[in-house]
Amino acid sequence: MDASRDTIPDKVLDWYDAHARTLPWRAAPGTPAPDPYRVWLSEVMLQQTTVAAVKDYFAKFTSRWPTVTDLAAASDEDVMAAWAGLGYYARARNLLACAREVAARGGVFPNTEEGLRALPGLGAYTAAAVAAIAFGRRAVVVDANVERVVTRLFALDEALPGARPAIRALTDTITPDTRAGDFAQALMDMGATVCTTRAPRCLLCPISADCRARAMGEPERFPVKAPKKAKPTRKGRAFWIERDEQVWLVRRADKGMLGGMRALPDDGWSARSDGHGEPPIAGRWESAGRVGHVFTHFALELGLSVHLGDSPVDPMSEGEWWPLDRLDEAGLPTLFAKAAGLALAEMA
Ligand code: ADE
Repeated sequence: MDASRDTIPDKVLDWYDAHARTLPWRAAPGTPAPDPYRVWLSEVMLQQTTVAAVKDYFAKFTSRWPTVTDLAAASDEDVMAAWAGLGYYARARNLLACAREVAARGGVFPNTEEGLRALPGLGAYTAAAVAAIAFGRRAVVVDANVERVVTRLFALDEALPGARPAIRALTDTITPDTRAGDFAQALMDMGATVCTTRAPRCLLCPISADCRARAMGEPERFPVKAPKKAKPTRKGRAFWIERDEQVWLVRRADKGMLGGMRALPDDGWSARSDGHGEPPIAGRWESAGRVGHVFTHFALELGLSVHLGDSPVDPMSEGEWWPLDRLDEAGLPTLFAKAAGLALAEMA
């Protein structure tokens, strides 16, 4: 290890002592670790999502379910509805499966990375993050912010995603034996506030003198990314059936896109791409426009058809009539919330 690498942990931890962001799930730098439940919940929520988007959800979950045992006792429906809008709904189902497993063990989280990794839905990242942050274990924690800091520090030329093992190995070389949780969160905060994707503020960085990308004069070139494959576009259709100030909502199958979430009936776009599925009831339909939504593997254009007429109807699918004035409590995922907004604007 070169001499400068030895000094990196202290520089990073000193920076964290002075500049750590104050976040609801965090303990102040150097103070006793926070409640593992709060650490775990925040880390699951923060995957693929920003700190700003997570704060309100974190507050809602922890006031409604203050302990992992409370969360474990909640119904699937309540948790899925509370998660609505955060996206990646498999995370919410895994969250509940994990809470129930921990509750079955007396409400105590395992305190090692391996023990955590064995819980349902806990991936390598979350296990490492919780082991380090909640239990003070030495663990190598790499999220997208850490990837940016580390690939710049070492001017790693290999492209993502193939570079991940190399990034992990490099992060391992600078991770200290103590305060690994503070160290991980320091790199995350540096990535979010200093070592930003564009226009990094190298003058504020505690390790700018060690940074190879800065020495090369082109920090923004890192991390190198493999060219993105163009996402395919799918077309689909959702159906708005309204009677007596109520709309017909269904619950989606547990498996598959937006699994387990409440939704408008649709034509099965998650399994097909031709946009020619059948409406749930006969009658006359009028198009009310379309909404777009980008998922991980495809973009969706979802047309909305509104059922015309006011005769009594009996949709064949399983579902429920939901009052329009309480639609924001239905827990619709963002795609269907957008479509509902379209329908309501159309009627107004
Ligand atoms: N992103 C994911 N986990 C985080 C944490 N503990 N602090 C800041 N940003 C994060």
